[in-house]
Amino acid sequence: MDIQSLQDELLADVAAAADLAALETTRVAALGKKGRITAQMKGLGQLAPEERRDAGAALNKVKEAVAAAIEERKLTLHEAELEERLATEGIDVTLPVRQQAQGRIHPVSQVMDEIAAIFTDMGFTIADGPDIEDDFHNFTALNIPPEHPARQMQDTFYLPKRDDDMPMVLRTHTSPVQIRTMQDTPPPHRIVIPGRTYRSDSDQTHTPMFHQIEGLVIGKDIHMGHLKGTLEAFCEAFFEVDNIRMRFRPSYFPFTEPSAEVDIGCSYEGGNLAIGEGDDWLEILGCGMVNPRVLENCGLDPAEWQGFAWGMGIDRIAMLKYGIPDLRAFFDSDLRWLHHYGFVPLDVPTMAGGLSR
Ligand code: DAH
Repeated sequence: MDIQSLQDELLADVAAAADLAALETTRVAALGKKGRITAQMKGLGQLAPEERRDAGAALNKVKEAVAAAIEERKLTLHEAELEERLATEGIDVTLPVRQQAQGRIHPVSQVMDEIAAIFTDMGFTIADGPDIEDDFHNFTALNIPPEHPARQMQDTFYLPKRDDDMPMVLRTHTSPVQIRTMQDTPPPHRIVIPGRTYRSDSDQTHTPMFHQIEGLVIGKDIHMGHLKGTLEAFCEAFFEVDNIRMRFRPSYFPFTEPSAEVDIGCSYEGGNLAIGEGDDWLEILGCGMVNPRVLENCGLDPAEWQGFAWGMGIDRIAMLKYGIPDLRAFFDSDLRWLHHYGFVPLDVPTMAGGLSR
């Protein structure tokens, strides 16, 4: 056996191993249980004692040399592998940052979406009508005839008359869409109407354009209990508190009889407004059973059909829910304000996914 050529051969194999897996195969073939050096070691037993010592020492040198070469090759291959990974998995940190969604959803839009989510979950559909409305739909059909004192309750923006002499207005409330719905489609009805409304009024808590959401339910045997239940379920869902305190106060609207205004319980502890509990009251909406005269104006027989309706200012309840102090900022288009009070575009409110949380 030529020990020198065995060493040369094994060292050449080590040098030729192209990756760590190949190197391991080479190691097993040389130093493993059935490896070539191991086999030589086993053969030593057949030699004469003096020969055995020299051959054993020489074989040990080969073994050490091969083991050292393997260790060294391992380091080299390891480094090469790392270099390759760094090259292929590298990130160019000088690339521009990927764009994030920059826009925000306005609190009014968000609150409209929240209200729509609550009522559509109860089986309502969304209806709408024109911002420029005729006198008939905005007033007369709602049981507010010309000269009626209720016309003075709202500071109306009047527009030039229509060709047929009909006075035209910017709608002062969303209630005219009740009339349009009842005229255009047969009962029963279960609708909510979010939209813009206009009154000639401007101070810290009033803007000439503001938002309302109207509700209308028309069916057979509908009574005040349905009205209360619906609005209670709504308030708990919207303000996201259980057992909200509510009070229905007798009131007057020409288009409902009886009429009520709804207050919710609240407290102002430590300058913070808490909705639901407490000794104070906040007025949030007007409501009532649809006046039989309104039903008649829409061609419905009040002996057969009854219903309830309500109207609510959206801007105000958005301020209440999200702690926004000044109404006028809603319409300033100040991006800093919008960034602070606005909502992330993909945070779409749903009853299943949660409204604001
Ligand atoms: N339209 C009323 C307003 O703007 C609000 C309102 C009250 C609407 C009672 C209704 C209702 O539908 O039943 O002040």
